Amino acid sequence: MKKVYVGMSADLIHPGHLNIISEARKLGTVVVGLLTDKAIASYKRLPYLNYEQRRVIIENIKGVESVIPQETLDYVPNLKKIKPDFVVHGDDWKTGVQSKTRQDVIDTLKEWGGKLIEIEYTKGISSSILNAGIKEVGTTPEIRMKRLKRLIDSKSIVRLIEVHNGLTGLIAENFSIQKNNQVREFDGMWLSSLTDSTAKGKPDIEAVDLTSRLQTLNDIAEVTTKPIVFDGDTGGKTEHFVFSVKTLERLGVSAVIIEDKIGLKKNSLFGADAGQTQDSIENFCNKILAGKRSQITEDFMIIARVESLILKAGLDDAVKRAKAYINSGADGIMIHSKEKNPDEIFAFCKEYSKFEKKPALVAVPSTFNAVYEKDLCDAGVNIVIYANQLIRSAYPAMIKTAGQILENERSYEADENMMSINEIIKLIPGGS
Ligand code: SPV
Ligand code: MG
Repeated sequence: MKKVYVGMSADLIHPGHLNIISEARKLGTVVVGLLTDKAIASYKRLPYLNYEQRRVIIENIKGVESVIPQETLDYVPNLKKIKPDFVVHGDDWKTGVQSKTRQDVIDTLKEWGGKLIEIEYTKGISSSILNAGIKEVGTTPEIRMKRLKRLIDSKSIVRLIEVHNGLTGLIAENFSIQKNNQVREFDGMWLSSLTDSTAKGKPDIEAVDLTSRLQTLNDIAEVTTKPIVFDGDTGGKTEHFVFSVKTLERLGVSAVIIEDKIGLKKNSLFGADAGQTQDSIENFCNKILAGKRSQITEDFMIIARVESLILKAGLDDAVKRAKAYINSGADGIMIHSKEKNPDEIFAFCKEYSKFEKKPALVAVPSTFNAVYEKDLCDAGVNIVIYANQLIRSAYPAMIKTAGQILENERSYEADENMMSINEIIKLIPGGS
């Protein structure tokens, strides 16, 4: 019997997959190389079903002899191991994201006289169409909540962007670019206290109360499916925080980040001059403990934010606090800095890498913004948050247009800054 290799993600199984397998089995014994979650996440969105769930489905499809993991998008390592006579794939990968992968398959098969067989793409159905359909249906709070942990496990770095209303939620959800044969997009959302407060015309001092923040959360959750990390400021009083945890968890938020400050909270980027006070280690640990005790599921995360570098308390203090917070059950540490260069962040990361317990590490490169994701990732950072960039770009654009209207006593001159009326009325589908 000839050996036939079929590589697939097989997240949303559709007749196209069955067609490929049924064509493949006509050629010989079919081995499916099932892409791992990591392999899929390296070039497109995380699959809905995890590897084990997908493996069980594929193993039970008629004509599949065995399933093996394909650890990378690249087929070559598995092909060299198996040396199949044929690789079968849909003909839809000739252009786009997977075209280089395809060429590597052809070149490798040549080494032992193997052949690539391409099956005509099944029209009218594809994972992308099903994915769009799923997005339209929406998600459940539970599925959304669990997604952050899966992303942390599957991606070298998880990329979050600030959101403060439904429209920014849609950008985080849908906007992507194609670069280096990959679809690049944001993995989830940061519901920033700074941008949520600013959008409501209020200062970032916990003056926007939880009820109001939840209204924003609801607006975003209604139109998105990606995971949400909630900026919980100081978490408030411990007695109140336990209720916030339950509420956020019930609504499908994946994580809350609380900062170790007390008294009237000011935005961290004001630094030590704003008269901000750091909480005692004991008190903050108790807040984390109480929060962890009050959550219902295993999946909700409480991430502790260490403000020692912001408040000039030094690296040793930051390290001491991070260890204490982790021992109190924190599911992650956010280390913050308002320096222009990332040296103190990297110094912290170096110490963190020596910790016995190393839950997810979060960085927010607002001031040290020349740093690349790759450098943060190499230093051990798991989540990068772009905490305020959307509102910071929107405000100057609006002011410019407002100025031109005042200047000219008409809006004609501002046209060049703006999308057309036709574009805005069609921006959100379903209006006409
Ligand atoms: C926020 O986005 O509200 C934050 C990050 O908490 S920072 O503004 O840097 O404090
Ligand atoms: Mg904040």
